[in-house]
Amino acid sequence: MSVKNYLHSLSRVALVGGVTPVQHLKRLSEYLQRDIYIKRDDVSHLGMGGNKLRKLEFLAADAINKGCDTLVTAGAIQSNHVRQTAAAAAHLGLKCVALLENPIQTAESNYLWNGNHLLYSLMGCKVEIVDELNDPDAQLQQFSARLSAKGAKPYIIPVGGSNALGSLGYVECALEIAEQCDRMNLNVQSVVVPSGSAGTHAGLAVGFAHCQPEMEVVGVTVSRIVGDQQPKVEKLQRELSTMLDVAALSPLTLWDEYFAPRYGMPNTEGMHAVELLAHLEGIMLDPVYTGKAMAGLIDGVKKSRFNGSGPVMFIHTGGAPALFAYYPHV
Ligand SMILES: Cc1ncc(COP(=O)(O)O)c(C=O)c1O
Repeated sequence: MSVKNYLHSLSRVALVGGVTPVQHLKRLSEYLQRDIYIKRDDVSHLGMGGNKLRKLEFLAADAINKGCDTLVTAGAIQSNHVRQTAAAAAHLGLKCVALLENPIQTAESNYLWNGNHLLYSLMGCKVEIVDELNDPDAQLQQFSARLSAKGAKPYIIPVGGSNALGSLGYVECALEIAEQCDRMNLNVQSVVVPSGSAGTHAGLAVGFAHCQPEMEVVGVTVSRIVGDQQPKVEKLQRELSTMLDVAALSPLTLWDEYFAPRYGMPNTEGMHAVELLAHLEGIMLDPVYTGKAMAGLIDGVKKSRFNGSGPVMFIHTGGAPALFAYYPHV
């Protein structure tokens, strides 16, 4: 079975709202003297959009097929993943509960209550604050056992929705981008994506290895140095290629120079990228993921880090609701 047919054969619920746009960033391209395109996964359909909805199309369908009534997940207090899980649950008539940590130990009230956190409560998601998500899989298992004891039928969605089933959403996104580029007669040679819980990066890497093996898929890390991030992406790559019965695995490209000082804490280059895209294009990035990944793209163009000299595509994975939590400062 082809990869496309396999993806179509799986159960899914519709959350993304169809093919997301590919756009030319004219003013950023002039600024950087290189053609830059953007894949607008930030404008997907529900709960203010973002990359998790592609993963949740498969994960929420699996939850429903298994007779579960509660989506259980975890993330930071300002987690875009929790927001989109809450949106999927609201849309499907499921409950949503989440464990939240404060990875930057801030007491700023915008961080604690505004942005994504405000949206969780609007969408009816119940949260529990923990000191630290130091072993999220085990913590989710324990949390889920507590919910079961109270009569719920919980379905655990791992941090970031990044297991193999969820990551299939980004295999599909790679096929979608390849078809869009074909139709637009566009020869994109490199894509840039934030690499966090790793499912987005791994899915794109496996998808492009299958449909456009010459594509350079650059993952800009948002939480870890390459030595720690690479095994996470590779594990998912292996699981996906087994699931899809595709052999070829392209070598990974990971850049880890742009996430300091740590996950969830903004840096100057990332915030400059947020402001640049807002000024030049009217497009909102975020301080934690896409701002840092765009800082990588800008620096990569300036330092000729990309293969060749062709167009580069930025995968906009969403996250702008966190702007209201991070400004005026954390
Ligand atoms: C806006 C945004 N971009 C990128 C990512 C990273 O995606 P992944 O966790 O699949 O690596 C996340 C994860 O939460 C996110 O919220």
